[in-house]
Amino acid sequence: MRRAVCPGSYDPATNGHLDIIERAAQLFDEVVVAVLINKKKQGLFTIDERLAMLREVTEKLPNVRVDAWHGLLVDYCRQHDIKAIAKGLRSVSDFDYELQMAQMNRELSGVETLLMSNNPAYSFLSSSLVKEVATYGGDVSQMVPKVVHERLVAKLAERG
Ligand code: PNS
Repeated sequence: MRRAVCPGSYDPATNGHLDIIERAAQLFDEVVVAVLINKKKQGLFTIDERLAMLREVTEKLPNVRVDAWHGLLVDYCRQHDIKAIAKGLRSVSDFDYELQMAQMNRELSGVETLLMSNNPAYSFLSSSLVKEVATYGGDVSQMVPKVVHERLVAKLAERG
């Protein structure tokens, strides 16, 4: 069984994330979308909320499952016999950080990283920018799945 993990903060998932998950699902027998903690980022959604949204937007993909992990990504890969990490690359500015993480993860455990070029239609998209634009009332409905958009609007309204 060829397994890959698509790790990320997914706070929340965007159409760019979904594109990479769908494409990874065509390359591997099983893909785990894993919500991990990025210590550099402060979260808007709880881990459970992120998981629920990811489960809904990936439910039509039979070989994709969703999970959460508090710890090193390589430890998750070891425990679940995952040999590859699949991530999207939006731009050259992503590359330095992604390459550094790929090298660190390989050094720690031998796990390989597959950096997939993002659909250019989504190269400007990030969860952080989507949240910022939505906070000030901007229309992000075409940038995230419908269910994410609904929860985002509701979350921001409840925060005031
Ligand atoms: O969506 P993001 O925030 O760019 O994803 C980054 C993430 C969560 C994949 C990365 O921060 C991560 O792997 N965190 C888990 C802890 C870990 O393994 N850190 C060492 C990375 S080399």
